[in-house]
Amino acid sequence: MTLYINACPREESRTERLARAYLAHISDVTELNVYDQPLVPLDRKRLAHRESLIAGGKWHDPMFDYAHQFADADDIIIAAPYWDLGFPAQLKTYIENIYVTGIVSAYNDHGQPCGLCRARSLTYITTAGGAYDPRFSFDYLTAMAKEYFGIRETRLIYAECLDICGNDPEAILQSAIDQIERSADR
Ligand SMILES: Cc1cc2nc3c(=O)[nH]c(=O)nc-3n(C[C@H](O)[C@H](O)[C@H](O)COP(=O)(O)O)c2cc1C
Repeated sequence: MTLYINACPREESRTERLARAYLAHISDVTELNVYDQPLVPLDRKRLAHRESLIAGGKWHDPMFDYAHQFADADDIIIAAPYWDLGFPAQLKTYIENIYVTGIVSAYNDHGQPCGLCRARSLTYITTAGGAYDPRFSFDYLTAMAKEYFGIRETRLIYAECLDICGNDPEAILQSAIDQIERSADR
């Protein structure tokens, strides 16, 4: 199963259009729209509750459902627009909720993190109003994938400069979609 994490809040999201073009070539996809989920940040109360569940070995508590779903996926696709040099807060909230030591990641005898996720790859899809800088979105997710989740391969698909005056956003987006189609044909 490929887990598609949809973090695109806009009705007419260009990022989501790019993601749909990519997903059209993949079967057995489960979509999780992070805006339709009761995801909330880990505050003091929720953190204490989570720690008590972990201490009690209650790995099948509903609080960990998102973490199990993420850990069990064969591949991961995340789509999110480029916001404030990174991505929307709801995606970070999702990451907070799935990052459970003992489900997606563990520490080995040398105190180093080792991934427990099954996924072969994580594909990140985004669009940017200006020039895309991957440091706080794709690069961050790549570090998380490789260093904590144990997902070895990461890929980036993006379209940029969509909001720059004088540019043709439709043409830029179509060119990114054409590239996806060409890669799928190979
Ligand atoms: C809240 C917000 C923050 C944004 N921050 C940036 C930014 O830091 N840099 C940039 O180039 N574009 C920024 N943009 C523009 C979006 O990246 C761009 O419009 C993108 O294509 C939106 O994707 P969507 O159509 O999937 O919503 C921002 C847009 C919004 C609404």
